[in-house]
Amino acid sequence: MQHILEELERRREGARQGGGQKRIDAQHGRGKLTARERLDVLLDDSSFEEYDMFVEHRCTDFGMEDQKVPGDGVVTGWGTINGRLVFVFSQDFTVFGGSLSETHAEKICKIMDQAMKVGAPVIGLNDSGGARIQEGVASLGGYADVFQRNVNASGVIPQISCIMGPCAGGAVYSPAMTDFIFMVKDTSYMFVTGPEVVKTVTHEEVTAEALGGAITHTSKSGVADLAFENDVEALLELRRFFDFLPLSNREEPPILETSDPMDRVETSLDTLVPDNPNKPYDIKELIEKVVDEGEFFELQPAYAGNIVIGFGRIEGRTVGFVANQPMVLAGCLDIDSSKKAGRFVRFCDAFHIPIVTFVDVPGFLPGTDQEYNGIIKNGAKLLYAYAEATVPKVTVITRKAYGGAYDVMASKHLRGDVNFAWPQAEIAVMGPKGAVEIIFRGDRDDPEKIEARTEEYREKFANPFIAGHRGFIDDVIMPRNTRRRVARALRMLRGKELENPWKKHGNIPL
Ligand code: HXC
Repeated sequence: MQHILEELERRREGARQGGGQKRIDAQHGRGKLTARERLDVLLDDSSFEEYDMFVEHRCTDFGMEDQKVPGDGVVTGWGTINGRLVFVFSQDFTVFGGSLSETHAEKICKIMDQAMKVGAPVIGLNDSGGARIQEGVASLGGYADVFQRNVNASGVIPQISCIMGPCAGGAVYSPAMTDFIFMVKDTSYMFVTGPEVVKTVTHEEVTAEALGGAITHTSKSGVADLAFENDVEALLELRRFFDFLPLSNREEPPILETSDPMDRVETSLDTLVPDNPNKPYDIKELIEKVVDEGEFFELQPAYAGNIVIGFGRIEGRTVGFVANQPMVLAGCLDIDSSKKAGRFVRFCDAFHIPIVTFVDVPGFLPGTDQEYNGIIKNGAKLLYAYAEATVPKVTVITRKAYGGAYDVMASKHLRGDVNFAWPQAEIAVMGPKGAVEIIFRGDRDDPEKIEARTEEYREKFANPFIAGHRGFIDDVIMPRNTRRRVARALRMLRGKELENPWKKHGNIPL
């Protein structure tokens, strides 16, 4: 018996060593943690149950039969984050560069299948050179097996990817299909083809960082949600983020205790919107003053800043916030912001997270760039997402709600449940000046007449009461009471039941 126990411990130790001390040192030398160290930070102490520690690859080509490392380059299993179940895989770059073999893929698939059965999220810590080159098509098949599970799990359990090293080729497409992507600055990269291939094919000279680093993907491409300074920061923030999410679409998000009163009055909000309708203000101030304890977990802050998305809590319950940001492009909707917010709305809807929308939008961004790149289909993504969503939807128009953008931003017409406006709200087809220049084109050369007409239009539409007359706005509220009114609306809506007509699936304009 003693002999067997020693053998077990020897094997375990072999697996823990991964690709050996030299490679572990190299990993540390780059400022990266090892696969197991990362899990130690991510999961609650002693909660990790590892699976498949003794799995080895089956490749016999290129001398691979003599190079076997127990675990085969990925640590998999389950544990808890603040006491709640989560399945994890953490790729070990010290073993064949974390590359994905057939067996490596099987390990990931095993925990994904179990996560689906029990209804718990999957977090992937990615650090991989892509397909295991020595294995050829067996590895490609392994990737596709993971992709298929990503798709099956989409909307059933939350899936989160943390990119903590290179992710090339197939390694990017699994994260791409997960709900959220976190990256680490300077040490993580995502690209379909790396700088060398880019140079050969397009003759462009580009560094890995510029092509697919954390800054690129959180500010230019919008592929990733957040960029962190190092592994530890990314993992600790991931723990905080996890607490906003339900375990699956069969459950509600957790309710956290809060000492923040739901009827907290914020008098400063009465003066948040400047008198001059063209002057910007920071919509994040409103979100932070409405959520419990000012804690707002913003996603994609560096991308499409004209719309703000993220999670907060009201009365301890998770709420998804979507808000136009007047500080960037005057809060206009454009392609990037529509895609950004559309995907977020769909996540909330899939996982029973109510959506609170703050509206200050002068319309869709005009221009050839937008039209040529498909603002019509891309703007329709957000429209579609809001219209499809059946979770509680509470909307507050703080200032402008012009044109199609008024309709899009969780209006009454798209089944907004409770629609409020602040007293200075302006709900119209367009801004007074633009409107007058079109409908009184004949007076264009008479500035006095134009001025008078503009004033007339402003008086008629630059207030929330016309919409109020029709019931498109349920109430005009004092800005200072926004938290209380939104909280009460969400409380009232807890029992909401609404179903879309049966269909296999809709056809969102992709
Ligand atoms: C097998 C690999 C590997 C791979 C790296 N290694 N990538 N082994 N398959 N894909 C091994 C290296 O041989 C090396 O082994 C160790 O991992 C570390 O790699 P280095 O190159 O020394 O590290 P570094 O300089 O940090 O560069 C990391 C890297 C680079 C950028 C990831 O290794 C690289 O470019 N690898 C190939 C990436 C790639 O083209 N992958 C295939 C993508 S195609 P030793 O023994 O020296 O430690 C793909 C298709 C799937 O994924 C499509 C599905 C849709």
